[in-house]
Amino acid sequence: MSNTAVELTRQEREAQLDLDQLKQLVGLVAYDEEADPFPVTGWDAIVFVVGNATQAAQYYQSTWGMQLVGYSGPENGNRDHKAFVLTSGSIRFVIKGAVSPDSPLIAHHTAHGDGVVDISLEVPDVDKCIAQARAAGATVVQEPETVSDELGSVRIGAIAAYGETRHTLVQRTIDGQTYAGAYLPGYVERTSSFVKRDGAPKRLFQALDHIVGNVELGKLDEWVGFYNRVMGFVNMAEFVGDDIATDYSALMSKVVANGNHRVKFPLNEPAIAKKRSQIDEYLDFYGCPGAQHLALATNDILRTVDELRREGVEFLDTPDAYYDDPEMRARIGEVRVPIEELKSRKILVDRDEDGYLLQIFTKPLGDRPTVFFEIIERHGSLGFGKGNFKALFESIEREQDKRGNL
Ligand SMILES: [Fe+2]
Repeated sequence: MSNTAVELTRQEREAQLDLDQLKQLVGLVAYDEEADPFPVTGWDAIVFVVGNATQAAQYYQSTWGMQLVGYSGPENGNRDHKAFVLTSGSIRFVIKGAVSPDSPLIAHHTAHGDGVVDISLEVPDVDKCIAQARAAGATVVQEPETVSDELGSVRIGAIAAYGETRHTLVQRTIDGQTYAGAYLPGYVERTSSFVKRDGAPKRLFQALDHIVGNVELGKLDEWVGFYNRVMGFVNMAEFVGDDIATDYSALMSKVVANGNHRVKFPLNEPAIAKKRSQIDEYLDFYGCPGAQHLALATNDILRTVDELRREGVEFLDTPDAYYDDPEMRARIGEVRVPIEELKSRKILVDRDEDGYLLQIFTKPLGDRPTVFFEIIERHGSLGFGKGNFKALFESIEREQDKRGNL
């Protein structure tokens, strides 16, 4: 075995995170990268296409506490679209919106609404990953190429994932030289005049825990196989059938992760039930498979939720009965705060053999009932809130019913 020590990424170092924090926040583990046919270091960027990137970028700063660090747009030669690079802790988001009436982003947005187009991953060797992906039958949508500016070079390539989603693979260190720019060549550094309210926390979340993908009925195993075969991801947990069925909707879910567990992809497919499931609703409105939710890791979910509510963020409701159920209280046992503190904020709690986690889900971020955020605080548990799936789905169904889509 060699190279089993996990190292911090540049983004994590810049966010002043350490390995112990990352083990706690996102369940980071050591593994043998040399033996991996498709080594993945971690997340590189989550790229959204939205209807109005100028306003969305301001919303994510003012409401979600993200920091503007980079930009590409007409002012620096990109006449097609505007792209704003935002960070919070080690997470990098890129928000894109069309400028030119001929931009391909317009057709994408017309078809799908606001959503995630690219779950971009940092890799130590793009050529190795693309060769492995091609050999394993993946669709290569961008051949490896080196792009440079005065701040250095990165090497990038891309493969197709579910629906219209892609994984761009970014190698930030070439021959020992690490790219020094804000994001990629073509982007300029940019800050904003936005000033946080007095007393607001430095950031509301520190790392990205997982991104859930919704795929079509009958395609779950195919996509699990894709991540196993093409990208060498391992299966983490499996939830099927009654685990996550309510009276009305059902789904099947399986989880794959990269070697060091920084990148975790739960995948869902709808299952046959009495009424249309939330996955069916997503597929109808997104128009194809896509990213359903992004789980943002925090070490103080109470504070994060209080701050977000104060900024007007709406979360899914949880009935008081959830917290008052003696069976649930017995199963959960002691957590770091009294249950009343969770109840008043509608934060869910789940426990497994390794520990517990606290989580809450927002309502959809845009106009369509598609992508949303989860806030998660882990205390040993490496699960995804299986014990909460039923309560969560019943809550989603109440919202789905209000929209006339149940
Ligand atoms: Fe989740």
